[in-house]
Amino acid sequence: MNETKILLSEKELPQKWYNVQADLPKPLMPPLNPGTGQPIGPEDLAPIFPMGLIEQEVSQERWIEIPNEILDIYKLWRPTPLHRAKRLEKALATPARIYYKNESVSPAGSHKPNSAVAQAYYNKKEGVKRIATETGAGQWGSALAFSCKQFDIECTVYMVKVSYEQKPYRRSLMHAWGATVHPSPTKLTNAGRTILEKDPNTMGSLGMAISEAVEDAATHEDTKYALGSVLNHVLLHQTIVGLEVKEQLKLAGESPDVLIGCVGGGSNFAGFCFPFVKDRLDGKDMRIIAVEPTSCPTLTKGPYRYDFGDTAQMTPLLMMYTLGHTFVPPGIHAGGLRYHGDAPLLCLLVNQGVIEARAYHQNPVFEAAIQFAQTEGIIPAPETAHAIKGAIDEAMRCKETKEEKCIVVAFSGHGHFDLAAYDAYLAGQLEDYEYPEEMIKEALEKLPKI
Ligand SMILES: Cc1ncc(COP(=O)(O)O)c(C=O)c1O
Repeated sequence: MNETKILLSEKELPQKWYNVQADLPKPLMPPLNPGTGQPIGPEDLAPIFPMGLIEQEVSQERWIEIPNEILDIYKLWRPTPLHRAKRLEKALATPARIYYKNESVSPAGSHKPNSAVAQAYYNKKEGVKRIATETGAGQWGSALAFSCKQFDIECTVYMVKVSYEQKPYRRSLMHAWGATVHPSPTKLTNAGRTILEKDPNTMGSLGMAISEAVEDAATHEDTKYALGSVLNHVLLHQTIVGLEVKEQLKLAGESPDVLIGCVGGGSNFAGFCFPFVKDRLDGKDMRIIAVEPTSCPTLTKGPYRYDFGDTAQMTPLLMMYTLGHTFVPPGIHAGGLRYHGDAPLLCLLVNQGVIEARAYHQNPVFEAAIQFAQTEGIIPAPETAHAIKGAIDEAMRCKETKEEKCIVVAFSGHGHFDLAAYDAYLAGQLEDYEYPEEMIKEALEKLPKI
């Protein structure tokens, strides 16, 4: 097969999500109550999440049916294309075959609506009137704004201040879909006020914005909270991506040698690669590579420990690689990759050696993004560009070794709202932040003692 795009019809849209919890090499450590240090049960999560999602969070079932109402909305853009990056291959003069799964065709321009639509649906089913959330790059906030509109739910977004200022058009998108957007930290919540008292000039972080959104949900009867990454149910919803890729690779007569994606909290990467994890565990010779920024090197430099998901220590303790919940990463342009922790499911698989991780500085990442844009056409989101850089490095390695490998990249989103970052790169104004050893050491000292 020599097609440039490998397409599935709507009839071939997967009808079930894949739950990797059924196939883990060892069981996941339970989330712990931040007050008592004891494992939490579904009832502890009930004040902030609807029961339908809590059930998915703890489910051990391998396959979970996707409700028709969700499939109907998915069909606005799914199944998404798998592209063969022939022009990039040619420019690199590599014998490798590079494919990319294009999640940029969704309404919000990324993979995020795959979970946002599902979360809005389960909230609606249980009578929730308003959802509060955080957003880094603005991708998750816009995805949730769109999804809430589909189900007639109000949406309040706490947007990390640095992104609120760097990405005004993501804000416009959220407004167009009817959401209310606040630059976080705000003075609207106790968490925000406390953070601002300590550091009035903070640029914000995902950890801070999560604290604000959780507090908003916990203090309003009609409101629940939605998280755009990290949690098991979010990763579950994203597996629609990898399930489609599996079918598409079959159609192309391919079997992947390398799967690569970028990791912020882990949702796009996990959704893309988890459907292949069983094959890898059963002995298939395949590398699964997670790429993160050098300035926020959670998987590559963080210890595997229990930590809070947020700055104000309101969320359950999760077993994950972490840079410490007080770590505030530098304001790099891949706002969606600035999170101190990572999804526990992904962390377990990294810890077990099933998935490997690497980190890149932002200048080489943007160089890769430009090469991709100039060959394949699409401008990648700065987050996605980390995956592209990883793929180009792998393809160049194949050139040296003359190996004809099949490399598949998770193309998580486009960068149409990130053009200021491209301007800064092209003007030579982007800084490569060195690994802030001291800051991380300081933050790690504040890890809870479990
Ligand atoms: C385009 C894009 N890719 C990747 C990410 C990282 O998030 P996750 O690791 O949950 O996929 C984000 C987060 O905002 C994003 O917007």
